[in-house]
Amino acid sequence: MKPDTKPMIVTCGLPYANGMAHLGHMRTYVPADIYVRSQRKQGREVVFICGSDTHGTPVVVNAEKEGVTPAELVSVYHDHFLGIFGRMGVRFDAFGTTDDIENHDRTTDIVQKLIDGGFVYSKNIDIAYCPRCDRFLPDRYVEGVCPHCGVIARGDECDQGCKKPLYPGEIINPSCAVCKGPAEYRSQEHYFFKLSEFEGFLKDYLETLRGTDNAVNYAKGWVTQGLQDWCISRNMDWGVKFPGAEGLVVYVWVDAPIGYVSFTEEWAKTAGDSWEKFWKAPAGENGQESEIVHFIGGDIVYHHCIFWPAMLKGAGYSLPTDVVASGMVKIEDKKFSKSRGYVVWVGEDYLDQGFHPDLLRYYLAGYTSHTKELNFSWEMLQEKINSELVAVLGNLFYRSLLFASKNFGEIPKGTAEPAILERIKTATADSVKALSEYEFKKYTDTVMELASFANTYFQSHEPWALIKTDKEKCGEVVYNCLSLVKALAVLFEPVAPGKMQEAWEQLGLSGKVADTLYEDALVPPVPGSALGKPEILFTKLEDDRIAAMDEIAKKRVHLAMTEAGLITGEETRAGAVSGDIKNNGGKSAQKSCCAAGEKRGEKSMENEEQKAELLPEISIDDFFKAQIKVGKILSVETIEKSTKLYKIMVDVGEEAPRQIVSGIRAYYEADALVGKTVCVIVNLKPAKLCGVQSQGMILAADDGSGKVSLLMPDQELGPGSNIC
Ligand code: 2FM
Ligand code: ZN
Repeated sequence: MKPDTKPMIVTCGLPYANGMAHLGHMRTYVPADIYVRSQRKQGREVVFICGSDTHGTPVVVNAEKEGVTPAELVSVYHDHFLGIFGRMGVRFDAFGTTDDIENHDRTTDIVQKLIDGGFVYSKNIDIAYCPRCDRFLPDRYVEGVCPHCGVIARGDECDQGCKKPLYPGEIINPSCAVCKGPAEYRSQEHYFFKLSEFEGFLKDYLETLRGTDNAVNYAKGWVTQGLQDWCISRNMDWGVKFPGAEGLVVYVWVDAPIGYVSFTEEWAKTAGDSWEKFWKAPAGENGQESEIVHFIGGDIVYHHCIFWPAMLKGAGYSLPTDVVASGMVKIEDKKFSKSRGYVVWVGEDYLDQGFHPDLLRYYLAGYTSHTKELNFSWEMLQEKINSELVAVLGNLFYRSLLFASKNFGEIPKGTAEPAILERIKTATADSVKALSEYEFKKYTDTVMELASFANTYFQSHEPWALIKTDKEKCGEVVYNCLSLVKALAVLFEPVAPGKMQEAWEQLGLSGKVADTLYEDALVPPVPGSALGKPEILFTKLEDDRIAAMDEIAKKRVHLAMTEAGLITGEETRAGAVSGDIKNNGGKSAQKSCCAAGEKRGEKSMENEEQKAELLPEISIDDFFKAQIKVGKILSVETIEKSTKLYKIMVDVGEEAPRQIVSGIRAYYEADALVGKTVCVIVNLKPAKLCGVQSQGMILAADDGSGKVSLLMPDQELGPGSNIC
């Protein structure tokens, strides 16, 4: 791993300081933070920048609604975002506001440079004006009909229809968003940026721009269609004054991205470093001497891949090298909508309820690829955490550390096996490669596969038996397990920084795992050094907690729909809303089948308690409802979407073999399973697990210490023999 030496700025789209942080925000910020942590682990100099977007009508309209000044509104939500980022482990080096003096000054400088360069001209255009409110209506102050698709739209964007940006004067049948009265068009002088002059530049530039396809490819398409000059002045008081134009401010989409530059200046002042090396870096032989990586939501690609590079080019600043756009977020399989209640607030719905930030970070990174739609449901969070973080990673850490602590009281003597080191090396290289392609899910999958491998290593070497016969050999095994645990702590830190620091301390290691380079993953722990106290890192999310969260979500939708007049009291009594939330695309069904299949390989930290729990009595007839047969395993394949499932073909004495999905991957190598005679429930309702059909269940036993064993007949019996 040779670190690239160019300094790197990573930015996140600036949140409007006009409302609370929700899951949609985190979909961009958490992966960006993972990326930054990972770059630092490669020895890269990175500055991570964000801040509050404080200007424009999104802020002013909300301030008016709440009866406060824009500055008051901004101050409240700026602090709110800062607090949420801190609690979520998203560590920006600077988090300014676009109303900071640095941003006023930098915006004035850039706009003036564009004017001086001949890239700005003035023109009289029709602007919506409300005679009743006696004012011009910029952007979101005006509503009307989209000229492109005919759907009701707001002044700056066809938000309900074709999603095209709308320019002043374009909207048909304008009305005032405040008093709802009809608006009229009045002619006024405004300022335009000659975006059309940058078509040639953008065509070439976009060929070099890296990032996700949903950003780069869309942008190429837009340039091919031709670009329209862009009105960059607005009739407002709140904002950056337009140089040389009384009564006008700069359009918010000009001064917002300039925040990336001015917040870097703010960072540089505090750090005693230079902002110019990032934003004014002269081009070297291989191009620009800095890397500028923008993480944004998929809805603001146009602004970042078209407007912004053109502005930077025109004013003589460095250009973005990567634009990474995240996919949309759905809540409970419904389109994300604050007004309809399909929203999860990061503070009150998640952190304030006592959920650990790292669980959500893992879900956001590992649910699906970064550019695809992410669906959030409390049940899926529960499933993912319990079957992956608890059963695989947490299980490995706790069983290894507990065993080492109980039996050796320190890191035992040993040497790391070359095969184990090779495995760590490959996993590290694969993870780094995944992130260089912005594949966050691949990153978490690679880490979890290494954890599964480590669990299999622990299981197959049976240290609990070895300790009785050969303590030295047992020490070797445990030493190798701890080497894997250490490597995993380093690799998983970008995703779960808080929990991995705890693991680091349990390993008895000093310093911060966040400051540890990937190359240290390959350095095994020092034999004879002290261990910390082993503690369970990840505990199961219990059904009652998840049910309580579902209830909160249900109430929110109910309230929103009642307020919107979409349901009545009668319907509520008939349970219409509860049906709506619960019936979301087979979500409940998915949960129950995953539990059925994956539970078998799941090692629970609370097994001791569970052992004591007896299920209610059943009759012998109930027992015989399950038809159990002897089966022979014919073949075993891994399931790509899962870290713990196998697809197993089993001969149960029928014409064709059965396909069964089983969660025993952490405990058996695929090859070792082929030819084994096992017990299979053959009349279990077929279910899909991670998209793969399963026609039965292979029985196994779990002793509660992480030891899982298949149930096998005492003597060789033919496939199809009945278990009675
Ligand atoms: O869409 C938004 O939420 C904007 N506040 C993003 C601004 S990103 C950047 F350009 F500043
Ligand atoms: Zn439209």
